[in-house]
Amino acid sequence: MDSLRSKENLNQFESIFGKTNQLPRLFQAPARINIIGEHVDYLGGTVLPAAIDFFVQVLLRPNDSQNYRLHSVSYQETVELKKPFSPNSKSPWVDYIAGVIFEIEKKGHIVPGFDLLVDGNIPQGSGLSSSAAFEVATGYAIKETFEFPITREEIALIGQKAENNFVGTKCGIMDQFIIAVGKKDDCISLNTETLKYSYHHFDLGNYEFYLINSNVKHSLKDSAYNKRRSECESALVKIKAKYPNFTQLYDVKLSDSEIDQCHLTKEEIKRTKHVTSERERTKVVIESLESGNFRDVGSALFQTHWSLSKEFEVSCPEIDFIVDSLQSLGVTGARMIGGGFGGCVLVLDTKNHFSKIEEVLKKSYQQKFNVAIDFYKFQISDGVKEVLV
Ligand code: GLA
Repeated sequence: MDSLRSKENLNQFESIFGKTNQLPRLFQAPARINIIGEHVDYLGGTVLPAAIDFFVQVLLRPNDSQNYRLHSVSYQETVELKKPFSPNSKSPWVDYIAGVIFEIEKKGHIVPGFDLLVDGNIPQGSGLSSSAAFEVATGYAIKETFEFPITREEIALIGQKAENNFVGTKCGIMDQFIIAVGKKDDCISLNTETLKYSYHHFDLGNYEFYLINSNVKHSLKDSAYNKRRSECESALVKIKAKYPNFTQLYDVKLSDSEIDQCHLTKEEIKRTKHVTSERERTKVVIESLESGNFRDVGSALFQTHWSLSKEFEVSCPEIDFIVDSLQSLGVTGARMIGGGFGGCVLVLDTKNHFSKIEEVLKKSYQQKFNVAIDFYKFQISDGVKEVLV
């Protein structure tokens, strides 16, 4: 993993946008994992994410104009953004910033012109939410620089709306939320219907979480993410026609024969199965983490994985191979995380096992898919904040 180059980026900022007597301020937003509660955050479900120590960093300085001058280190590209905004198909990374400015202005704050440089070390398309981190870093940097009275929770909602309305992915609120409110060493349980949340600190003892990146790149926008969401929504409409008391798919408690009477398609039945069974697994995981029963946490993670793969159909052969191999190798638990169709697997295991798993799996994965996989250890870290250059 590349480390962040704050000093070099400051020099680059000043050579692109010029030196003034005002230094740009540096803000950083983390990546995230999600322990359990996958594909339920747009259905009123409970999720259990944590912020981790991979980051997007933005340097931002007001420029006394109406326009926004933007530079991406990853794309080595400088773009001038002017109002009125329209989607930028040539440089899609600019849409995240345009979307955030647009949503802040919708709340009644005028965002003056600024210069911004963005860099980061969150692998893109890995299911670790590099785009949500970009939105939240940008929103937070604007709010702090121009002293807008916007809360962290509102920054999360602004980021989500930017993604829904400007970028085009109908994502839920989980990623932006944990990136905005995360705390070192804690995960949160977030009710995505009420947005009530609480911090949890779990002592993992002899266990650890780590990540395996399949290096299969996904694009949530091009993938079936939006389709899955609309299948869940249409399933709920049909269920409500017969059982009007349910307001969220996540809360549906019906037997198979009752579901049969709702005339769902085969796909809608499978999506409903995943969502409602995830509710039960989430309860088990929260209780088991609290009581230190990591075996039960692990088996719930495996169950969630196979439910995402078989019922929700958002995995892929490479990710299934990784989880299947981990299961045969006897790790405690593992599952795909995030939107799916590639990206990372979250692993829970006893601490002494890592090197052996890494050695075996790197070899077998390379042999089968002719692609390398990466293993990442991580720390649970703070949400978005200002840092010193
Ligand atoms: C992506 C979305 C989230 C969530 C997950 C799946 O990360 O951005 O809102 O839906 O997929 O749980």
